[in-house]
Amino acid sequence: MFSFNHSLLTTIFSVLTIFLHPSNAQLSSTFYSSTCPNVSSIVRSVIQQALQSDTRIAASLIRLHFHDCFVNGCDGSLLLDQGGNITLSEKNAVPNNNSARGFNVVDNIKTSLENSCPGVVSCADILALAAEASVSLGGGPSWTVLLGRRDGLIANQSGANSSIPAPTESLANITAKFSAVGLNITDLVALSGAHTFGRAQCRFFNQRLFNFSGTGSPDPTLDSSYLATLQQNCPQNGSGNTLNNLDPSSPDTFDNNYFQNLLNNRGLLQTDQELFSTNGSATMSIVSNFASNQSAFFEAFAQSMINMGNISPLTGSQGEIRSDCKKVNGS
Ligand code: HEM
Ligand SMILES: *[C@@H]1O[C@H](CO)[C@@H](O)[C@H](O)[C@H]1NC(C)=O
Ligand SMILES: *[C@@H]1O[C@H](CO)[C@@H](O)[C@H](O)[C@H]1NC(C)=O
Ligand SMILES: *[C@@H]1O[C@H](CO)[C@@H](O)[C@H](O)[C@H]1NC(C)=O
Ligand SMILES: *[C@@H]1O[C@H](CO)[C@@H](O)[C@H](O)[C@H]1NC(C)=O
Ligand SMILES: *[C@@H]1O[C@H](CO)[C@@H](O)[C@H](O)[C@H]1NC(C)=O
Ligand SMILES: *[C@@H]1O[C@H](CO)[C@@H](O)[C@H](O)[C@H]1NC(C)=O
Ligand SMILES: *[C@@H]1O[C@H](CO)[C@@H](O)[C@H](O)[C@H]1NC(C)=O
Ligand SMILES: *[C@@H]1O[C@H](CO)[C@@H](O)[C@H](O)[C@H]1NC(C)=O
Ligand SMILES: *[C@@H]1O[C@H](CO)[C@@H](O)[C@H](O)[C@H]1NC(C)=O
Ligand SMILES: *[C@@H]1O[C@H](CO)[C@@H](O)[C@H](O)[C@H]1NC(C)=O
Ligand SMILES: *[C@@H]1O[C@H](CO)[C@@H](O)[C@H](O)[C@H]1NC(C)=O
Repeated sequence: MFSFNHSLLTTIFSVLTIFLHPSNAQLSSTFYSSTCPNVSSIVRSVIQQALQSDTRIAASLIRLHFHDCFVNGCDGSLLLDQGGNITLSEKNAVPNNNSARGFNVVDNIKTSLENSCPGVVSCADILALAAEASVSLGGGPSWTVLLGRRDGLIANQSGANSSIPAPTESLANITAKFSAVGLNITDLVALSGAHTFGRAQCRFFNQRLFNFSGTGSPDPTLDSSYLATLQQNCPQNGSGNTLNNLDPSSPDTFDNNYFQNLLNNRGLLQTDQELFSTNGSATMSIVSNFASNQSAFFEAFAQSMINMGNISPLTGSQGEIRSDCKKVNGS
């Protein structure tokens, strides 16, 4: 009798889930509604607290979700420290080492959630929830976060080295890396709009400033007064670690100024400017649309974040719910 009712309920629930989320039957917006109903506000409140002393943290947190999802799917693998069976961490991979940050805040969110709902919320879902809260607290759009990801048991450092886009790549190569995880050029342009907040170190763009591609001159797609500012902040032989605002016009606000910057040759990274300055590229008109219509950007951004969050999640009995985001359980 019980098992009949149980399987009937399961069937009804599955049908409802498929009906409500035709594009992804695996994750669900109500995944924690009985086991951790307050999960979103707990995540949000820890980030709000962290923002008091670190205006950059919202940007740093959304980047963690991106770097997690592009390597073996959104499985929290980026968060694992090196040690034990984790011989080569993703944290130490080239795109993350001395660059990815916010891990302590992820740990604080985990601690807060373990206090309210022990053993329930995965670290992979924390990153997805933190990304949404960070954008919305920065003045950007809100969206319904799909949940139910489980945490992976391995890290993939060579995957992180090769799959995360680098800031000196061509638009064709970046497009291929997005395509490899099922994201198209609308997603690429919209998600690049996350560079509307946060910082970048000189070493990630200084190849543009003095002798671009061996030409003896700076990148011609850099506005001359912006170039002068950047040359001053990132002198030749200066520290590669000096920070620069990705969006100087509103450094900590989530808005569409990033796209207006691109129209004015004021993209900071080579890969930012390429979206608008690669002749004949289909990305140009998408940039123009987002620059002139913030609602269009916000709507597309929310959809593309959902698309990115759907990359190969572990679900059901795959993986585990880590009790410490830095370690596989039992290690
Ligand atoms: C399209 C290819 C992309 C490339 C080549 C790229 C590259 C970079 C680089 C080099 C930095 C500076 C890191 C540092 O200085 O330590 C950065 C920062 C950042 N990226 Fe991207 N990124 C890309 C796409 C994305 C996406 C899809 C997102 C999120 C949806 C994102 C969010 C961010 C944020 C918010 C920051 C600032 C982080 C902070 O201040 O801590 N990026 N990115
Ligand atoms: C949910 O969490 C928020 C933030 O921590 C808190 O203000 C609120 O009282 C909580 N609500 C419930 C029902 O626990
Ligand atoms: C990460 O950066 C540190 C310097 O802060 C360096 O000692 C270490 O070798 C780097 N790790 C890898 C895997 O490149
Ligand atoms: C990742 O790249 C760095 C720098 O090239 C290299 O030292 C490291 O061995 C690579 N990791 C793997 C697992 O290939
Ligand atoms: C690591 O990542 C690469 C590239 O994303 C992938 O081809 C490879 O299968 C992954 N390795 C493991 C062990 O998951
Ligand atoms: C694009 O990718 C190819 C193949 O991995 C590589 O050989 C080439 O150097 C890359 N080009 C740029 C500009 O990133
Ligand atoms: C990218 O995919 C979305 C669906 O998520 C679709 O609406 C959009 O038109 C696609 N963009 C391109 C350029 O094909
Ligand atoms: C620029 O770089 C190229 C190739 O590395 C080099 O041959 C040339 O001398 C450099 N030009 C200047 C002005 O430094
Ligand atoms: C940078 O350092 C190199 C090697 O030490 C030197 O030849 C060059 O003149 C320096 N450039 C500047 C602008 O200081
Ligand atoms: C794009 O085309 C314009 C006009 O034809 C040209 O002036 C410019 O140099 C080209 N830009 C690039 C990056 O090739
Ligand atoms: C801006 O984009 C929104 C959302 O796509 C759309 O509904 C609206 O019509 C656009 N506004 C203009 C002025 O094009
Ligand atoms: C580490 O790997 C060994 C050998 O595959 C396995 O027996 C052990 O359970 C793993 N440890 C953890 C904590 O997963």
